[in-house]
Amino acid sequence: MDKLDSQRPATRALQTVRNLLLAVAVYTILTGVLQFFFYGSLTSTHRPKPSNQHSSSPSTDPSSGSKSSNGYAHLRPDSLVVANDAYMGFRPHVDTYANFTRLVDVCRGSIQSLERMKYVYDCMQYLIERKDDYYYIPTENAPSIGYPSYVPSSVNDIGTCNGPVIPYHIWWSGKCTWRVELFIKSYFHSQNLPCSRLNLWLDVDVNPNAVEEMMRDPGFIRFLPLVKRGDIRLREWKFPARVLLKQANDGEGDGKIIKLGDGAYIDEVGNEWLEFSTRKMTFLPVAVSDAVRFVVLHYEGGVYCDMDNVLLRDLRPLLIPPNHGFAERWGWYEGPWDYNTAIMSLQPNSSLSQHFLKGAVKMGINFHPYIIGRLVYKDGRGEEFTMFEDGFFDPIWGQFNTPGVTRCTVPCLENYGEAFLGRKDAIPRDWKAYDGPRFEEIDGGVSGNDAGRNSDGSKNSGRSAEDLDWSDKRKRRKRGAVEETHAIQERAPAGFAPGYDIDKDPYPPNNRTLENFFKGAYAYHIHNQWAKHPEPNSWLDVVRRTHDGFLNGNRVNMYGEKWNGPQLPSYDPFPEFS
Ligand SMILES: *[C@@H]1O[C@H](CO)[C@@H](O)[C@H](O)[C@H]1NC(C)=O
Ligand SMILES: *[C@@H]1O[C@H](CO)[C@@H](O)[C@H](O)[C@H]1NC(C)=O
Ligand SMILES: *[C@@H]1O[C@H](CO)[C@@H](O)[C@H](O)[C@H]1NC(C)=O
Repeated sequence: MDKLDSQRPATRALQTVRNLLLAVAVYTILTGVLQFFFYGSLTSTHRPKPSNQHSSSPSTDPSSGSKSSNGYAHLRPDSLVVANDAYMGFRPHVDTYANFTRLVDVCRGSIQSLERMKYVYDCMQYLIERKDDYYYIPTENAPSIGYPSYVPSSVNDIGTCNGPVIPYHIWWSGKCTWRVELFIKSYFHSQNLPCSRLNLWLDVDVNPNAVEEMMRDPGFIRFLPLVKRGDIRLREWKFPARVLLKQANDGEGDGKIIKLGDGAYIDEVGNEWLEFSTRKMTFLPVAVSDAVRFVVLHYEGGVYCDMDNVLLRDLRPLLIPPNHGFAERWGWYEGPWDYNTAIMSLQPNSSLSQHFLKGAVKMGINFHPYIIGRLVYKDGRGEEFTMFEDGFFDPIWGQFNTPGVTRCTVPCLENYGEAFLGRKDAIPRDWKAYDGPRFEEIDGGVSGNDAGRNSDGSKNSGRSAEDLDWSDKRKRRKRGAVEETHAIQERAPAGFAPGYDIDKDPYPPNNRTLENFFKGAYAYHIHNQWAKHPEPNSWLDVVRRTHDGFLNGNRVNMYGEKWNGPQLPSYDPFPEFS
């Protein structure tokens, strides 16, 4: 007789209860450990060294425990200024090409002397002001020829691109932390949605259930409507044993396997493969993610972004010109091979993508940017793999590396931790490089000027984004930020809520806006210098909340476009601040 059958019901019930309790205990411990792992010790090892007393994380600072922040979070106005969300003008036409030669000329100078490489401010100023100089629409063979007309996305439909749809690739292993959320939101805020697809590659070598678990992850659940709509694809990343270099044409191949050396071979039907002998591969997450980008871009093209980037502008003009392979420079290293592959693009199935794969396999499946750079340099293929300077994807490296050598950017940050700081005066240099007019502040008695033009509660004129005259910059400047806005008007408080004392708030509202967060740059690279969370009203907190406002439909993006997608459930990654 079976042992189980011999047990009486009462004993069985007891046992069930015991097992349940055990399971709950194990679950609690496990999630606790994971929580700690993901939000605690692991991240803090990457935390930049506090540069001054304000750097300490709010939750570990006894003088301003989360309690005092809690008390104010409900009363605190979002900002002291009314933001101009629509600051980049119209989105580039779907066929727009960026002129790589021109961009390299202006932001680097000559390849030998790099005369302009360090002038990050000037490069970004050029990117803001001279779109007419570096963007163009090809007169022949425009990519959109033969495509249907453009249909914007709507609640349940991703829309129709009037041109090729570009894949974006990101790779992740683990829970959907706020870092993942930040990237995804920045993608939706900045990219041309009917014309882009976001592939989130999840490492199933590490966790075979990664996709299922992501679909249930509290941080990711809010994006499920966008998985359904087709914007986001969750994809399984498995380290391949071999990569298809070249597909045979019909009738190729002579029924035999031909070894080509260095792991390459031609199979019976003529396909050319590259073997990834993973024995040699150290499965460090970094090494895996270094490899992912080259394999995925070889197969599918598009752009690969590390998760520690925040996208700021539509990348499409960099992604559709023929043979547009690029990566960024590694900080201020002056070598022609010092690439940083945190954001990179390759033409799929190209001779360049094959070259990288073969070269990296020869080096022991090593896709470290240094190796990649040597591969380009050694074989004189630098021209094919454009190196964009810091102003494009990594605007603060220069100041971080050598503060003060050239004009700082706006904001003027000197280390990666500063973007996380929200206390008053935590970054004294914040606006150092800004030379526009001072923003008019909403009521509150802070600025002492005759601010608060809206404090009478007057409604904004209700102009829509399309009515704005983008070209007339001077006029806009004069009108000032207050008059430029539309949809978000209701959010601007007329004076502070009763009980709110801005002087006592450790993270008072301020004049930071997404518009002034490295305007002109295509992305901001956090360099894995994560703090545990962005402090309230820090630059990254402002960025994060602006994205949220857009996805909730109460703001426009930087192109003046409204969110047409599904209403997303809200999610607060930092309940300690709400
Ligand atoms: C791109 O820029 C280069 C260098 O300034 C210029 O010579 C070339 O004509 C430009 N190409 C196009 C298509 O505008
Ligand atoms: C690259 O080639 C493979 C097979 O050779 C093909 O399946 C794939 O569609 C090609 N990708 C692109 C983006 O052309
Ligand atoms: C933002 O506020 C800071 C601190 O009050 C001030 O120094 C700076 O000039 C302001 N910037 C603008 C553009 O108003």
